[in-house]
Amino acid sequence: MRRLFRWLSDRLNLGPLLHHLLDEPIPGGASWIYVFGSVTLFLFVQQAVTGTFLAFYYAPTPDHAYDSIKFIQQGVPFGALIRGIHHWGASAMMIAIGLHMLQVYLYGAYKPPREPMWLVGVFLLILTLTFGFTGYLLPWDQTAYWATQVGINIIGTVPWIGGALAKIARVGSDLNALTLSRFFALHTLILPWLIVALIAAHLFILRRVGAAGPWEEARAERFSEPFYPKQVFIDAVAMGAVFLGVAGAALLSPAPLTDRANPADATFRPVPEWYFLFFYQLLKYTKGAWETAATFVLPLLFFGLLFALPFLGRNRERAPARRPIAIGIGALFLVFVFTLLGTALKQTAAIPVTDPAVERGRALYAKLGCAGCHRIHGVGAEVGPDLSYVGDQRDRAWLIAHFKDPQKMSPGSIMPAFHLPEPELEDLTAYMLSLKKG
Ligand code: HEC
Repeated sequence: MRRLFRWLSDRLNLGPLLHHLLDEPIPGGASWIYVFGSVTLFLFVQQAVTGTFLAFYYAPTPDHAYDSIKFIQQGVPFGALIRGIHHWGASAMMIAIGLHMLQVYLYGAYKPPREPMWLVGVFLLILTLTFGFTGYLLPWDQTAYWATQVGINIIGTVPWIGGALAKIARVGSDLNALTLSRFFALHTLILPWLIVALIAAHLFILRRVGAAGPWEEARAERFSEPFYPKQVFIDAVAMGAVFLGVAGAALLSPAPLTDRANPADATFRPVPEWYFLFFYQLLKYTKGAWETAATFVLPLLFFGLLFALPFLGRNRERAPARRPIAIGIGALFLVFVFTLLGTALKQTAAIPVTDPAVERGRALYAKLGCAGCHRIHGVGAEVGPDLSYVGDQRDRAWLIAHFKDPQKMSPGSIMPAFHLPEPELEDLTAYMLSLKKG
């Protein structure tokens, strides 16, 4: 390895390049507080890699999108894991960006001469949120469809041009095949190039201006150490831990997939991703003109303030103790967002979650007259066995085989065979499996 590297290095003159990359001075020395930028970058790369794998199997049309995701979940080796990492990775990236911005805010690292880096950073935040919004539609399940509908309606409330913007996003007056291709193209072709360009600009500026280091300028000037080895090691450990965390989440809790999108079923109550949830909650409290204020003026004000931040005030101090206004406003903002998020989460948790497939199965059970022979919790006849806890006794494969041919599974059975279409068979089985003790 070492000889190969030396051989290459001799020919490509890598020495000065490596020296330039690794010897960047870190004022005040390496620290764990600086990992969030690297972790965000790592998560972006992870999204790009897992997203590319998903694109091998994903079909961006309303007829096939849902089935292709189902196939990724059930038929592709490691498909569920890769999709899980992509799903949880998106959330992790939001958290990493949030922490990165908090650190920069707290350390006053956006102040001159680092305004350009901050401005590019705010664009990166907007791009990441757009990634989240466009990616959410792609599975074309009920949540995707109705949450995107809500999102586009919010765009529609922008004064004067809202209607036109919403039409452009939808490519028409309803979500349709072109909406899906448009979101897919944005998510996989346009946004990636934009974000790579801006990440490059962000890093380029960082290397030109230099890292900010601790807020006590004196300490930053007294001592600095090169990026390699200590900060590289710290960053690598943080990235490894984040990868394990995201992969663990993907294994323990697979990425959700609700029912296939049904444009006719407007009763479905979508819940947006958690990072849009506080905003969604805010809209619940507003009506009429206030709603426009919340959907349009507030975001405009928020991003306007973010962009203007490095140019506001003349206080060049970076220590939080000497920036009471900035720190106070930041703290109030966090309290505001987390109160809304907490309320929203509490309200969502209070909605009982019933799998819609189970509900449809229950309706089928009634329609097909199963109660003429079976009893569930005291209701129905006793010709066949009591099904109150059949979910504990039988598995999916047995139940489906039994519905198709009861005599084969239970010789001599008098239960008639039910020749149902595959989806109905699935629903009925889902209902049977939900019948469990406890
Ligand atoms: C004509 C009466 C009759 C009807 C109608 C009927 N069953 Fe059955 N079912 C039976 C009998 C008898 C058995 C026991 C023998 C066997 O396992 O096939 C049985 C067994 C079952 C079992 C297996 C229970 C176990 O754990 O062994 C399930 C599940 C079941 N039925 C579900 C249904 C559902 C759902 C329907 C409606 C779509 C239905 N049955 C309609 C008579 C009936």
